[in-house]
Order: sequence, then C-alpha cells, then structure tokens
Amino acid sequence: MILDRQELCGIAASLAREAGRMVRDGRTHGIGQTSSKSSDTDMVTEFDRASERLIVQRLQRLRPDDAIVGEEGTDTNGSSGVRWLIDPIDGTTNFLYGLPGYNVSIAARSDEGTQVGAVYVPATDELFTAIRGGGARLDGAPIHCSTTASLRHALVGTGFSYLPERREAQAARVARLIGRVRDIRRSGAAAYDLCCVAAGRLDVYYEQWLGPWDLAAGELIAAEAGCRTGSFAGGPVEPSNVLVSNPTLFQPMIDLLRDSG
Ligand code: IPD
Ligand code: CA
Ligand code: CA
Repeated sequence: MILDRQELCGIAASLAREAGRMVRDGRTHGIGQTSSKSSDTDMVTEFDRASERLIVQRLQRLRPDDAIVGEEGTDTNGSSGVRWLIDPIDGTTNFLYGLPGYNVSIAARSDEGTQVGAVYVPATDELFTAIRGGGARLDGAPIHCSTTASLRHALVGTGFSYLPERREAQAARVARLIGRVRDIRRSGAAAYDLCCVAAGRLDVYYEQWLGPWDLAAGELIAAEAGCRTGSFAGGPVEPSNVLVSNPTLFQPMIDLLRDSG
C-alpha cells in the first residue's frame, strides 16, 4: 500500500482546525444539551457529536475507502488499509465548564501503526502535527521533548478515569509519587498532555485506561518529538497503559510507577 502521509496529515490538520473552531465558536452561545456516558461524570455535549459529524462527513467525501472510528460512535469499515481515529472533543469536562484545555484529535493509522496525527487546541489556536518518520511540529515549526535529567526536577502530567474506583487508585498513586517529582499537572485532556511532553511543556505524562482516540495522534507527536513511549512496564504503549517522557526519564519513571503502584 502506498501512503501519501503528507496528504493524510494535511487532511487531519485541516479537519481538526475546522472542527475545533466550530465548537469554540458554538460554545460562546451556550453549552446546549448534555448527557452522560460511562459514569455520571463522563459527559457528552451536542458539540462532541457535531464535531464528530463534521469530521466524518468531510473524511467520507475526501477518503471514501478509509475506515473511521470516532469516540461518539462512528465505526465504519474501509478497503484502503487506512483507519482514522477521532476524538471530536478531548477534554469535554473542560469544554463543559468553559475552561480552555480541550482539543480535537485526529490520527490516521495503517497496519504498521499511526502514520499521521493532528491535535488542535482552539483556545490558543495551536496545531500540533506529526508524520511518521518526519518529526513533530507546532504550527509548522519543529518541536522536541525536554532535556530534564532527574525525576526530582520533572513536571509530570497525568489524568484520571471517569470510574470512581479507578480514580481513587490513581489518586492514591499520585499521593505516593508527588513527593519524588517537581510537581503534578492534570490538564483534563490526554491528547494535549501528550503534545505537552512533545513540546517540553511537561517532562513526563502517564495515564491508564485511555481510549484509542485519546492516544493515537498525541503518541505519534510525542514519539516524533524524541520522546520514549511505552507501557508502565516498558513494553509497547497501549491505551490502557501509557507512559511518555523524555528518554532520560523513562526508566526512572518506570521504577517510580512500580514503587508507587
Ligand atoms: C478524557 C480526557 C482526560 C483523561 C480521560 C479521557 P474526554 O477524554 O482526555 O484528560 O484523563 O481519561 O477520557 O472524555 O474528555 O474525551
Ligand atoms: Ca478524550
Ligand atoms: Ca472526547
């Protein structure tokens, strides 16, 4: 299969930007209807659905043979070998409360892994992109992970599941490790956290129980920015188990996660 990664990245970037601007502008007129999903704090707004609709409609016109999976229910088959993964609003709780920390995340995958990713942050008008083998960029300029060399000086991002039992276990781990790092951040948007490690705004990010749409674009952006990505045990990264850091901090962070788990 011959992939035009430049074309795929251009599509991911322009759709993430278009959908992100639509939801940002729409939000100024109110939040509209909301409902809950996996737990009564896992919310979905009419903007999540409208964003996914817009992206899917455009993709079906531009790339009719590709498969598409979106967090809000899209799951279509394709024959081209390309599969899109869409988080139409990552950071819905931020969006709901009028906080700036949300984004639109779009990735295109093949059997060889994620090929391109785009994460657009409407509040700051920032666009993070990556092409497999071609580096990571913020608004077109190359980005790189931090060079922080010790966990004591590491700013660590993480997030929490919507399920109460899982959140409690995650919070207990944070309590055990916060004394061993510079500080903890919880932005409320996993794709943005991954881009922050890519751009050196965080030194480390870890989280469990993400969805594939949370991870795909941001993980490629981080890897292409020089980060190491994997599971808490150092194996291949999975949505259920995500550790991303600059290369120096990766093994110390595995040790810390083990000791604090
Ligand atoms: C959530 C955010 C959050 C993370 C959760 C995700 P959503 O995505 O990325 O930061 O902690 O695990 O589910 O629900 O806002 O798309
Ligand atoms: Ca998400
Ligand atoms: Ca979402």
